[in-house]
Amino acid sequence: MAQREKPGMGRIAGPEKPGGSRAPESVRRAGALSAGEPAQDGARSGWLLENPTDSASVTRYYDEWAGAYDDELAAWDYRSPDEAARLLAGYAEPDGRVLDAGCGTGLSGHALVAAGFADIVGLDISGDSLAVAGRREVYRHLLRGNLQSVVLPFRDDSFDALTCVGVMTYIQNNSATLREFCRIVRPRGHIVFTCRDDLYRERDFASVLDGLAEDGDWRSLYQSPPSLYLPGNDAFAEDIKVIYFVYEVREAPHGLGRGRKSE
Ligand SMILES: C[S@@+](CC[C@H](N)C(=O)[O-])C[C@H]1O[C@@H](n2cnc3c(N)ncnc32)[C@H](O)[C@@H]1O
Repeated sequence: MAQREKPGMGRIAGPEKPGGSRAPESVRRAGALSAGEPAQDGARSGWLLENPTDSASVTRYYDEWAGAYDDELAAWDYRSPDEAARLLAGYAEPDGRVLDAGCGTGLSGHALVAAGFADIVGLDISGDSLAVAGRREVYRHLLRGNLQSVVLPFRDDSFDALTCVGVMTYIQNNSATLREFCRIVRPRGHIVFTCRDDLYRERDFASVLDGLAEDGDWRSLYQSPPSLYLPGNDAFAEDIKVIYFVYEVREAPHGLGRGRKSE
């Protein structure tokens, strides 16, 4: 990250869109919408609950959703961006550089600015979501990238902090992506992310998180109880909650986790 850009000057860069133009059956069946078509909560929820980790499908879905995402999430009383930003502000200095990994349309970047952060880079796989995020003028820089394609396009220790809000659902190999987060965040920097409580259990996420701690990549600072995620969405409401995590990247004096960083 050589050059710092002014907010609003961020340009969108990154790989070409994966996949072809036609959505797979799972997306069409669950109600991927064409432009102008009204949102159907049930169809959205159906797709979200399929927990897709196929990046091409996820990209298509979020590209199509981008124009309506903010309004629909507001209707579902989505609180995670504000809560994650508030948590990070409790640990990190506001003048640090933050990567908003899976920034989507920029709700999470907007919340970071409201919490006092100013130097924010956004990365997402959905180009149409990034276009919405760019119009918010809260990011120094925006780029298109796939969090499942590790190695991520950043040098070691590029960031003072990282947030990843509402994204882990779509990541198959959580361990690889989280290790990569530890590589690009400096020692003693902070990582705040969310995970749905149903997937935390189903994917044995606790073992993944503990594994990184045992390897010296990070140490846990905070884990919330399962909290309301989308209280205004009938399919989530009281049934599917979200857990917030705060980790500190380790110095790893024993050289385990840090040993994975590039020379
Ligand atoms: C629920 S939205 C969250 C967006 C934003 N963080 C927020 O809180 O509003 C999930 C975002 O993750 C992005 N995403 C999913 N899989 C991804 C991947 N493999 N690489 C990068 N972004 C991904 C989607 O494009 C989408 O914008």
